[in-house]
Order: sequence, then C-alpha cells, then structure tokens
Amino acid sequence: MSSYTGVTGRTYVVTGSASGIGAATTALLRDRGATVIGCDLDDAEIRADLSVAAGRRALVDGVRGYGAIDAVLAVAGGGRTGLLETNYFGAVATLEGLRPLLAQSPAPRAVVVSSTSSLAPADERIVAACLDGDEAAAVAHLEADPEAGGRTGGYGIAKRALNRWVRRMAPTAEWGGAGIALNAVAPGVVDTPAAAWILADDEVRRTVEESSPQPFGGFPGRPEWIAELICWLAGADNRFVTGQIIFADGGTEAAAIGDRHWL
Ligand SMILES: NC(=O)c1ccc[n+]([C@@H]2O[C@H](COP(=O)([O-])OP(=O)(O)OC[C@H]3O[C@@H](n4cnc5c(N)ncnc54)[C@H](O)[C@@H]3O)[C@@H](O)[C@H]2O)c1
Repeated sequence: MSSYTGVTGRTYVVTGSASGIGAATTALLRDRGATVIGCDLDDAEIRADLSVAAGRRALVDGVRGYGAIDAVLAVAGGGRTGLLETNYFGAVATLEGLRPLLAQSPAPRAVVVSSTSSLAPADERIVAACLDGDEAAAVAHLEADPEAGGRTGGYGIAKRALNRWVRRMAPTAEWGGAGIALNAVAPGVVDTPAAAWILADDEVRRTVEESSPQPFGGFPGRPEWIAELICWLAGADNRFVTGQIIFADGGTEAAAIGDRHWL
C-alpha cells in the first residue's frame, strides 16, 4: 500500500463500486490508503438499488452505521435500472442524503459522474421536472413521449439535469459555504460494461467514434483514467475547485462546443 497526501486515511463512499469506473476508483483509493464503503446492486459493502426510495434510504442508513465519512462519489449509473431514476434522482439522493454526514469531515468532497451524453439537446420539461425534484412527473413525461430524449434518450436528459444541479448547488451555503467541494466528471466513451453496446458492434462503434471523436487518448478511454481525476477532486488536496463539470473525454466536448462559452 502506498501513502498519498490528501487521500490516505480518509473514508470514501463510492456508489457503483462493483464495476467499471466505480470499481477502478475504489481500487485506486484503497491502494492509496483510503477506506472505501462501496455501494452497488450486488457485490458491495452496502447493497442497494438507488433507483428506488427504499434503496436510497438503505444507502444512507448503511453509511451511518460506518461512522464518519470524508467524500461521497456518486458513480452508479447507466441503463440497468430506470434511466432518470438511477442517473439523476439516485445520484442526487446519494449526495443530498449523505451531505449532513459529509459536512462533519474536516475536508469534505463530493463528485458525481455525468457524461458527454449531457451535451445532447434535451427536453426542457423533463430537465425542469428533475431540477424541481418531481420524480413522478419527470418519469411520466418521458414515458408519455419516449422520443423526448432525442439521440441520448432519458440517459442524456438525466446527465444534463445533473450538470445543472451541480452548477446550482455547488456555490450554496449547504455545499461551498459548508466547505464541501461538489464537482461532476463527465466521461466520454470508456471501456466498461456500460459501453459494451457501443464497443461490441463494429458499426455502432464507428458511428459513435465519428460523431463523438476522442482525438486525445483514444477510443475508448480507460476507467483508470477517470478514476485518477475523481480521486484528485475528492481528495483533501482539492482546496479550490468546485461547481465544475469536467469533461474527461479525449476532446469530445471541445470538438462539439468549441469556443462558444467564451464569445
Ligand atoms: N462507460 C462509459 O462509456 C461512460 C461514459 C460516460 C459516463 N459514464 C458513467 O459512468 C458511471 C459508471 O459507469 P461505468 O461505465 O463504470 O459502468 P458499469 O456498468 O461498469 O458500472 C456501473 C455500476 O453502477 C451500478 N448500478 C447501476 N444501477 C444501479 C442502481 N440502481 N443502484 C446501485 N448501483 C447501480 C452497476 O451495478 C454497476 O456496478 C455511470 O454513471 C455512467 O453513466 C460511463
């Protein structure tokens, strides 16, 4: 085991710890001397389905049983369970539910995993229902109009709403004012089971690679590369970065948006 300033001796909650980016982050943190309380559907310290209220409660109750925590990493996501329920409402419930425990740390940090899918245009009604915390309305809108999500569906909507939630919450008294850094990491295509539907089919892979180029690092990226970034953002050494949606995507976002933010 190595010793790393800002990480060693801290306690992290990682959702989605059983696979892909969450598993890579868990391994990196443990290697650097942190304690990780993993949460996933199976194969984790806390088994909970974050797409439903009972699972979200089980996470918070379970973590409370472990005592003090220093960081919350809301990584769980993808398409195994309801798209909006898991990727937006589950992630926000993780962060909000654990925030009071987190606030007791001397260096509290939170990171949520978004996606380059958040860049796709999304149905504003559904994004607004997410940000209002109205899960029933958001899900009902999407069920009534499955095309509303466009190319990236409910997944892209959920991640877009998540980006906006981070931007709104990070500077508030509850987060930044309480000394808690809150950031999102938005990966491009990364080699995990969640991306198998893209990577296993040559035609889909070619189409995605052409429409969402990753000129730096290659296609797909590796989960360990995302884990490094999450690890730093969630460490005590991050003293000044909050409210950011950081695209770890080999350049996809830069290619798509260009210099528009700065015009
Ligand atoms: N792999 C990619 O290309 C990619 C790209 C952009 C964003 N992401 C995001 O990265 C995060 C991690 O995904 P990954 O690529 O490592 O995929 P993955 O499938 O390897 O891991 C996701 C983990 O989340 C868990 N999970 C899913 N639904 C859950 C639920 N309802 N309750 C509890 N746990 C649940 C799964 O069981 C799994 O272990 C997700 O938020 C995903 O949306 C992935």
